[in-house]
Amino acid sequence: MNLEEIESQAKQDLEKVLNLQELQQVKAKYLGKKGYITLALKEIAHIPPEQRREYGAKINRIKGHLEALFKEAEERLRKAEIERELLASWEELTVSLPKHVGAIHPISQTLARIKEIFLTMGFSVEEGPEVELESYNFDLLNIPKEHPARDMQDTFYVNKEGYLLRTHTSPVQIRVMLSQKPPIYMVAPGRVYRRDDDPTHSPVFHQVEGLVVDGQANFKHMKYTIEVFLREFFEREVPVRFRASYFPFTEPSAEVDIGCLVCGGAGCRVCKGGGWLEVMGCGMVHPKVLENCGIDSELYQGFAFGMGVERLCMLYFGIDNIKLFYENDLRFLRQFRWS
Ligand code: PHE
Repeated sequence: MNLEEIESQAKQDLEKVLNLQELQQVKAKYLGKKGYITLALKEIAHIPPEQRREYGAKINRIKGHLEALFKEAEERLRKAEIERELLASWEELTVSLPKHVGAIHPISQTLARIKEIFLTMGFSVEEGPEVELESYNFDLLNIPKEHPARDMQDTFYVNKEGYLLRTHTSPVQIRVMLSQKPPIYMVAPGRVYRRDDDPTHSPVFHQVEGLVVDGQANFKHMKYTIEVFLREFFEREVPVRFRASYFPFTEPSAEVDIGCLVCGGAGCRVCKGGGWLEVMGCGMVHPKVLENCGIDSELYQGFAFGMGVERLCMLYFGIDNIKLFYENDLRFLRQFRWS
């Protein structure tokens, strides 16, 4: 190769270089100890003396030019390499990130789903205080002082006369009926408290109350509303049974059972052999309760229901111990990420 060929070949080689390692190889090929340029410099001894000056100048110009090109390429490739490294380590960060991301508590998820279903059916979402007036929690719900039903719900009292920790979400019914005119279609999610503590009962748990007050509201509407809700909640057809029961604030009253989701009704440990699981209480609002809140029971009828959120959540996710909800064990909680 003559000098011009060496120069143009070097430029071509340089254009194909992709990284610093390749650059070093190409650089050695031309400027290294046995490189073309180095060898060409040694050639000078064999050049006739009168041509040496010109030859030397030419080779030095080419050498300088190539050195500049290599330097420029080296800087460019070094920058690219740093950027690649940054990019790679950034990717690593995002890969490890999900390990530390939290999850929405299964009870919160269940509450959100319940609210969503009722919002879709045109209900509003109401709230009431957890420290509640004794009269709202009991008296106005047709549970007078000496009524045995007060024993059904072992109560936490607070050291202020007339107040307690609400034992159910039903006092929110009272608050809404006292402050709003029918038609009323509402649900009230929230925490409730009872002096109960065993593997299936927690002293703090959650309920969602439902209340409808309207001119024609009847038992059939209630049944339909509850059945639609349960089908939406469990995302499949579930057998539903209404069993006659008693609550002082509803008449008639019923308890709602669903066919056991674990054994399909055949009988198992979860349903204690019966094939059915109780998920809520319900009934037609007692006329006395309507009147207590200034609603004319001749003009309006109502129905109400109250469901246990932990119960529904356990059935939905297949959780077998209520205490798991309150221990905040991350190994438990992380299993319930939003999908
Ligand atoms: N408040 C009742 C309970 O906690 C449930 C219920 C609500 C029953 C509304 C009937 C109507 O057990």
